[in-house]
Amino acid sequence: MEIVRTIEEVRDRVRARRARGGRIGFVPTMGYLHRGHTSLVELSRRHSDYQVMSIFVNKMQFNDPKDYDSYPVDLERDCAMAGEAGVDLVFAPEHGEIYKNPLTYIDISALTDTLCGASRPGHFRGVLTVVGKLFNIVLPDVSVFGQKDIQQAAVIQKMADDLDFPVHIIVAPIVREDDGLAMSSRNKNLTPLARKNATAIHRSLRKAEEMIAVGERDSASIISEMERVILEGEPDRIDYISVVRYGDLSYADRIEEKAVIAAAVYFGTPRLIDNMIVEIDGGTAKCVY
Ligand code: PAJ
Repeated sequence: MEIVRTIEEVRDRVRARRARGGRIGFVPTMGYLHRGHTSLVELSRRHSDYQVMSIFVNKMQFNDPKDYDSYPVDLERDCAMAGEAGVDLVFAPEHGEIYKNPLTYIDISALTDTLCGASRPGHFRGVLTVVGKLFNIVLPDVSVFGQKDIQQAAVIQKMADDLDFPVHIIVAPIVREDDGLAMSSRNKNLTPLARKNATAIHRSLRKAEEMIAVGERDSASIISEMERVILEGEPDRIDYISVVRYGDLSYADRIEEKAVIAAAVYFGTPRLIDNMIVEIDGGTAKCVY
C-alpha cells in the first residue's frame, strides 16, 4: 500500500492503474478508522480492482469548531488498518492541499431540511464540496458510503445524479459494536459511563422495530417510546428523533412503504447518530439497522 499527500500523486497513481485496466474503487473517510470503515473497503473490493481511501478531516463540514478540534487523529494506525483491509492507495492531504482559496461550493436545495441538515447548518455543503472535489481527484468508478450517515449517502447520490459524476454509489450496512452501539470515530471521546449509556440509542431502534412488528405505524407514538428508552441512558441532550420518508427525507406522520427512523443524541460532547430503514410490504415490515 502506498500513502500519498498530493493531488498530483493521486492522479498519477490512478491514471497508471487505469491504463492497466480495472475499475477504481474509492472510500472517503475522516480517519480514526474502525471496522465500519474497513467494511466499506471490503464492499468496494467486490465491485472494483484498485482501492483508494482518503483520510482527511474536512474542516469545512464541521459546524462546531469544538467538534473539529476534538476529532481524533491517528494516521499511523489508520494506514496499518487500511493496508490490512486491502486499500492500495491512501490519500492523506494537508488542509492546504485541498483548500487553497475556495470560492466555489457544492450545495443542495433539498434533502437537508430534516435530520442532521436541520441541526448542522452548512454541514452538507462542506460534505458535498469535499466529496465532489475528491471524486474529481480520484475519478472513481465506484464509491462506497455507510448507511450510518444515511442523509449523507442520499445527498451524495443526488449530487452525483445532478452533476453527472460518472460514479456508482454503493451504500453499506451499519457496523456495530457487540452491544449494538454503531461504530463511530467519535465513540473514542465518550467517557466510560457515557459509552455504556450510549447503547440506549440502539435499544430505542429495537423498541421501534418491536412496535412496528405488531402493527404500530404512528410516528409520534414510536418517537415517544424511543425517547423514553433513550432518556434511560441519561443523555446530555437529544438533538432529534425523527421519522422521514425514504425517498425525499421529508417528515412522515405515519410509516408507509419505505421510511427512515433516525436519532442524534449527545452523550457528553460527542453527538452520536444512528438509524433504521423500515420497509412495509402489506402487513409485514422489514427493519434494517
Ligand atoms: P467518516 O465519518 O470517517 O465516515 C466515512 C464513511 O464511513 C462514511 O461513508 C460513513 O457513513 C461510514 N461509516 C462510519 N461509521 C460506520 C459504521 N459504523 N458502519 C458502516 N459505515 C460507517 O462520513 C465522513 O467521514 C465524511 O463526511 C466524508 C464522507 C469522508 C466527507 O468528509
